[in-house]
Amino acid sequence: MSGPNSDYDPVEVAALDPEVVESNVQAALAAIAAATTLEELKAARIAHAGDRSPLALANREIGALPPSARAEAGKRAGQARGRVSAALAERQAVLEAERDERILREEALDLTLPPGRRPLGHRHPLTVTAERMADVMVGMGWEIAEGPEVEAEWFNFDALNFDLDHPARQMQDTFFVEPADAGLVLRTHTSPVQARALLERGAPLYVAVPGKTFRTDELDATHTPVFHQVEGLAVDEGLTMAHLKGTLDRLAEELFGKGLTTRLRPAFFPFTEPSAEMDLVCFVCRGEDPGCRTCGGTGWIEWGGCGMVNQNVLRACGIDPARYQGFAFGMGVERSLMFRNGIADMREMIEGDVRFNSQFGREI
Ligand code: DAH
Repeated sequence: MSGPNSDYDPVEVAALDPEVVESNVQAALAAIAAATTLEELKAARIAHAGDRSPLALANREIGALPPSARAEAGKRAGQARGRVSAALAERQAVLEAERDERILREEALDLTLPPGRRPLGHRHPLTVTAERMADVMVGMGWEIAEGPEVEAEWFNFDALNFDLDHPARQMQDTFFVEPADAGLVLRTHTSPVQARALLERGAPLYVAVPGKTFRTDELDATHTPVFHQVEGLAVDEGLTMAHLKGTLDRLAEELFGKGLTTRLRPAFFPFTEPSAEMDLVCFVCRGEDPGCRTCGGTGWIEWGGCGMVNQNVLRACGIDPARYQGFAFGMGVERSLMFRNGIADMREMIEGDVRFNSQFGREI
């Protein structure tokens, strides 16, 4: 006796019909071959090998067949699915290889291209010189102090014992900051930081002040309206002119080498008494050419002003002049660089021509 499905003819299960299976396989193979990207292949996999694909659905029908028919139908369905998944794997490998090759090509670096070389920047020789000077002072145990470039007239002049009618206050020397009654100037020297440092730190005090200064000078070989100084101020008990000279000689020796001749020449500054200027022997003629254009035939080049701090300055800053003495100096940085490197024309320092600056090497 046959069971409920004994008359069941597998050929009548349309999905397992050999022709139908074969045409589904062919449709799958065609879709796989037509896929040109991994995305398209994924769509073909879902359509032809996914859970809801005709071949998967046909596979499910096997259980409904009479046992005698199952083996053959199962074999057919299994082989059909095997062919499809083999084709999928093969196409997958081809498309992945194509993708990898494309990525390699698109993201390739041409290591033979010359790099865009940019010259490294470095600091200006004036900055380097000012710091070298400050370093010498720090090496002697001094501290560094700073002050503003837009300075109160009181610090720039009054605290430093300048009379109200001192010529340096007049328009021909000083850049005044508007409005005229603001009492502000572009500092004409680094000396106002003497007063600031004394008021802030008190005595005893040893400070060096590298900084930018301004005067209404025309630009020429030995003048520039913006220039630099390194100020020094020592206030302590028992200081004398000998300490001043020893300090400046040491600074000169560190900057310009041993055996250099210096001289102190009497001068006047409102904030020092006595006052002097320190000269260096001319770096061009060494004092041997009366026609030398660099030193005007004098054999000497002015380096900066100096002196014993005027007692009025000490008093203005609350220091007792009966107990403390001070010496001070303000040396030109442009002049130091000219002297150290034999530069006869100051304009070269400020023109910003990289060929000039790079002669000094790359000091960082
Ligand atoms: N400040 C003066 C100037 O620019 C230079 C100077 C002179 C500074 C004497 C000093 C000093 O500290 O004691 O001309």
